[in-house]
Amino acid sequence: MSENKRDVKNSLLFECAWEVANKYGDRYCLIGPLSYKTAPMEVEQQEPKDPHLASTLESMRNVGVKALYGRWLIEGAPHVLLFDTGSQYSRLDEWKGDLWNLAGIPTPPNDHETNETIVFGYIVAWFLGEYVARQLGTAVVAHFHEWQAGLAIPLLRKRHVDVTTVFTTHATLLGRYLCAGSVDFYNNLQYFDVDHEAGKRGIYHRYCIERSSAHCADVFTTVSHITAYEAEHLLKRKPDGVLPNGLNVVKFQAMHEFQNLHATAKSKINEFVRGHFYGHYDFDLDNTLYFFTAGRYEYRNKGVDMFIEALARLNYRLKRSNSKTTVVAFIIMPAATHSYTIEALKGQAVVKQLRDTVSEIQNRLGTRLFEHAIRSNGDHATLPAPEKFLSEEDKVLLKRRIFALKRNALPPITTHNMADDANDPILNQIRRVQLFNSEADRVKIVFHPDFLNSSNPILGLDYEEFVRGCHLGVFPSYYEPWGYTPAECTVMGIPSITTNLSGFGCFMQDLIERPQDEGCYIVDRRSQSVEDTVNQLTDNMFTFSNKTRRQRINQRNRVERLSPLLDWKNLGIEYSKARQLALRRAYPDSFYGVSGLEGEDEEFDFGMERMMPNSVPASPRFRMSGIATPGDIGTLTEEMQALGTSDYRGQAWGLTEEDEEEGY
Ligand code: UDP
Ligand code: G6P
Repeated sequence: MSENKRDVKNSLLFECAWEVANKYGDRYCLIGPLSYKTAPMEVEQQEPKDPHLASTLESMRNVGVKALYGRWLIEGAPHVLLFDTGSQYSRLDEWKGDLWNLAGIPTPPNDHETNETIVFGYIVAWFLGEYVARQLGTAVVAHFHEWQAGLAIPLLRKRHVDVTTVFTTHATLLGRYLCAGSVDFYNNLQYFDVDHEAGKRGIYHRYCIERSSAHCADVFTTVSHITAYEAEHLLKRKPDGVLPNGLNVVKFQAMHEFQNLHATAKSKINEFVRGHFYGHYDFDLDNTLYFFTAGRYEYRNKGVDMFIEALARLNYRLKRSNSKTTVVAFIIMPAATHSYTIEALKGQAVVKQLRDTVSEIQNRLGTRLFEHAIRSNGDHATLPAPEKFLSEEDKVLLKRRIFALKRNALPPITTHNMADDANDPILNQIRRVQLFNSEADRVKIVFHPDFLNSSNPILGLDYEEFVRGCHLGVFPSYYEPWGYTPAECTVMGIPSITTNLSGFGCFMQDLIERPQDEGCYIVDRRSQSVEDTVNQLTDNMFTFSNKTRRQRINQRNRVERLSPLLDWKNLGIEYSKARQLALRRAYPDSFYGVSGLEGEDEEFDFGMERMMPNSVPASPRFRMSGIATPGDIGTLTEEMQALGTSDYRGQAWGLTEEDEEEGY
């Protein structure tokens, strides 16, 4: 790239995103847009220690770029560099023109998000260009996430800026749009006329930015194999590898406590259920299971259609088998609402009143009992029947509270007044399958069209606590590039159902031999009909409903043991591999015969043994013995690429030889 030889061993890393953090010690800096609302609370301003960084920022400030540099006050306190896009809006038109001339990307006037992206991208490219012109000693890796942050990549490439770039898509723009419609997405991926489809949806310019970021990056990655496949066809570049999303497992880790946490959180959900189902609360909470789904409200993408249909079939099967088990299924998905329904609030209120009244009576009764006992002066024959201690007043009060529990209507499905009740797809599907919380139903539904919060007047739990209190997460997604919800279930020791169309599902299926035995059910949405998939989902839920408490406890233990698979500590290594590959591609000469570098490959080849000490019982059984992580970047070499070897694994998708040969 340049005549000057940069140090690739101690390379610097700039990671550029709208929302992300990672660690590279002191050689790491996160770049993002500056928000004056949140930054002062979250960032401790500092002077850069690196003189080149300081002089770059000074020179940019001299021409009006506003920037904040400091430490982000989160765990690990990474360096952050935030640019105020507002300070350069005057140059928007100039930059739009340049983008058109340089990359042929047109931009409409009123797309605020794109305007932000352009200004931010130009500032970042400017910054990196100036920085590497001053700092000549060390290689610089710039890692960008998503199209909103990626625009700097084509600019850096066209300007021949001496940095190496990684671009990671977490989904594709077009994929999300296409899937939300009713297309047969996966079977047609190869055939979509991408420009036409993007144009039809008014996102052509955004699509162009995403596509050029993917093509101009030295290394292109996605978060899962399923998204790699999607990106290959929609963005027309085959990703170099996969960087799965991890979790900060330590944060969730509760050691042996997670079973107790389940029990205490469940009792809080029980409390809600008593209120919600008052008047029809005739089921045994000790024999009630809580299923849930959660996430952004994308009815079809999240597989809510399938979830509700399968719940109806589950209801039928539980009834037919005379099961005594009740399943309460929660749907937690934010929609437009006008606050809580009176009915939902009333339910909690009447139960609270009853509880308050009972404890008042309990107190009075206790006092009377005590008085009576102490005055008996040792004569225990005078002990009257306990109900004698209930005063007439107490009885009236108690009766009133019991009357208040009478209810003419069935317990409501939704906790909120929906802005568009009649056209809400979730409600319509529930109406279609007629799951109306009637007494005979073994499956009840509660639709909470908002995220959870412990300060909510009903279902007042944080999401994490709620998940811990549930028995099973159900995420039958059709479009799910990764899927944090099932991953979070896993680290909290809660079993879940996902599909082989979700990044998480594919990931677990790739790693574990019999995931269903570990409490990680993966429904096949690829190779069977919708009907068969719904039946499989129903089977899984039915089997789960028939488990004994002991079996459930056991399964929670097993699922929690999978946590290390999802730990950033392990998955972060995939990120290192991607950055190493970027360095190799940009500075190949630095990687031949340099002593000390050979050993680094070892770092890529880390085995499962490292995650799971040998003392851990043999189960779960993992599929691979050697390379444990799914990214496969460690195994990727330029030679393999030249041979056309598949860079990412995953099932063949019925690709024809021509497809392969086309070699995007
Ligand atoms: N979530 C939350 N509060 C809720 C429900 C969900 O914070 O009441 C979070 C959850 O922890 C998860 C995210 O929403 O991290 C959903 O992420 P996922 O990748 O599963 O799907 P997305 O909604 O981003 O498509
Ligand atoms: C945890 C607790 C047990 C409790 C159980 C209930 O394991 O440690 O004391 O009995 O949860 O499990 P369940 O699946 O019935 O909610």
